Amino acid sequence: MKTDYDRFVVRPFTPLFGGEIVGLSVKELDTESIDRVNEAWMDWKVLVFRDQHITSDEQLAFALRFGEVDHHPYLDIGESEDVSALDNPVAPRFSRALDPAFDELATLDEGLFGRWHSDATFRECPPYSSFLIARILPSAGGDTLWADMEQAYQGLESEVKSIIDGRTATHSVGCSSFVIGMSPEEVEEELRCFPPQHHPMVRTHPVTGRKSLYVNSVFTDQIDGLSEDQGQHLKRQLLSEVHRPEYQMRLRWEVGTLVMWDNRCVQHYPVYDYYERRRMERVTLAGEQPL
Ligand code: OGA
Ligand code: MN
Repeated sequence: MKTDYDRFVVRPFTPLFGGEIVGLSVKELDTESIDRVNEAWMDWKVLVFRDQHITSDEQLAFALRFGEVDHHPYLDIGESEDVSALDNPVAPRFSRALDPAFDELATLDEGLFGRWHSDATFRECPPYSSFLIARILPSAGGDTLWADMEQAYQGLESEVKSIIDGRTATHSVGCSSFVIGMSPEEVEEELRCFPPQHHPMVRTHPVTGRKSLYVNSVFTDQIDGLSEDQGQHLKRQLLSEVHRPEYQMRLRWEVGTLVMWDNRCVQHYPVYDYYERRRMERVTLAGEQPL
């Protein structure tokens, strides 16, 4: 894998996936530097920049060099309407003490643990990337993991590949924590706004042409065209692929760490192991329909 990009070098998190960019400030980059960052991004999928003490406007300006802003239907708004805030004031968002829906959440594992996901795949055009910066951090914990879904796809047995190649799965906001605490009527309304989508189980990257496994534990409801039993069995098997440490990188944040990831070919996991405030701010870029 390439590590020298002329204007900066990449320090790999793992041999094939995840890179820290060394020697670059994201402020006021010229076109040539942006092109090199884009090249490194397509190679490494997750790029980490340390010590980026930038404003929300500067974060937004950097992200906008790579696409157009997407507004997330469920996240809180931060400094401006183009920047979302993920702010857990005292403890991970779902604690028994703070959240009336805790028991309902706990049955989903979500009150106690994070979950592997790709953002907003319940939408027809899920966002293609996110630019997340750490603003306030707990003294320890609150790491994030990412997993390379191209390696996850490559690692599948050919028999499994032949079942999922060309097949779709249904993704729905109805299975996610976004609807927890809503009444059945409210959930129905959400589903009217965001009807379930049939996305390919194997997604082809529009830039690199590489294939990745495109099912996730938050939004993927069922596999299309298989019996209920077969579908659920295969879904469980596929969802467990993301758990292999060989496909993962884990980031210890510092205030001012900025990460850009490609939501089309990676999944991520927020670790809910902390008890102090953690505030992240995110710019999300609009994506295309998965093919
Ligand atoms: C997100 C997300 C993970 C984290 O921004 O979509 O899941 O660790 N964040 O904050
Ligand atoms: Mn997410």
